[in-house]
Amino acid sequence: MSENTEIIPAGSFENMLNSGHTAELLETARPFIELMMHNECALREVETKLNVLNDEFSTLYNYNPIETIKTRVKDPLSIVEKMHRKGITPTIENIENTLNDIAGVRVICSFPEDIYAIADILTAQDDITLISRKDYIANPKPNGYRSLHLIIGIPIFLSTGKKMMKAEVQFRTIAMDFWASLEHKLKYKHNVKNSAAISAQLKECADAISDIDIRMQEIRNQIEKDSE
Ligand code: GTP
Ligand code: MG
Repeated sequence: MSENTEIIPAGSFENMLNSGHTAELLETARPFIELMMHNECALREVETKLNVLNDEFSTLYNYNPIETIKTRVKDPLSIVEKMHRKGITPTIENIENTLNDIAGVRVICSFPEDIYAIADILTAQDDITLISRKDYIANPKPNGYRSLHLIIGIPIFLSTGKKMMKAEVQFRTIAMDFWASLEHKLKYKHNVKNSAAISAQLKECADAISDIDIRMQEIRNQIEKDSE
């Protein structure tokens, strides 16, 4: 290739941007990009609140109730796929009204008691509204899945003012998280041989994990009591 061969011919980028189609595409994409950005902001707000609580517990009691916080914005393809599954046209307005889990937070705790403590403290904050609460720890799913799911409303502050956002916050223990990631693999793998036998084993493991979580918590509480 000679020195002055252009990989992208001069002007082609401008041509692309000036073509009616691209402009249309950008115009359509902009509100969606904004929606994703607003959800990123909501995630940051929730994550900060959780980090503040963890820091406070750490300072006051020398103890971190939260092991890990994971955040994710639902990817655009999953958003469109879920809207189709629900039979709703994926306009920005419909997406905002229909989906509660574009902003997703996973809070991993060591002990079940900490899950309820942190969830209660978070939802008691006066800028947070509790939209729904599903307690799959007290009421596990038939497959053994255990987690506490909250849908919360949380404001973000933009140049144009306050906007209420929604976020799904899933709380689970380290062991429940370990279980859920393996179970998730089974769910999304088709043609798994003996899937009924695997499901039965997973259910057994979920129940065993729940027993261990409770026993570990009892031991933790005993240590606390005995060291007073
Ligand atoms: P979705 O339409 O999937 O959001 O269902 P839903 O609105 O009834 O919500 P639900 O609270 O039951 O579950 C929401 C999320 O929790 C899922 O997207 C998963 O991340 C997680 N989850 C729920 N059930 C299971 C399960 O059986 N196994 C695993 N691994 N994850 C689960
Ligand atoms: Mg959901």
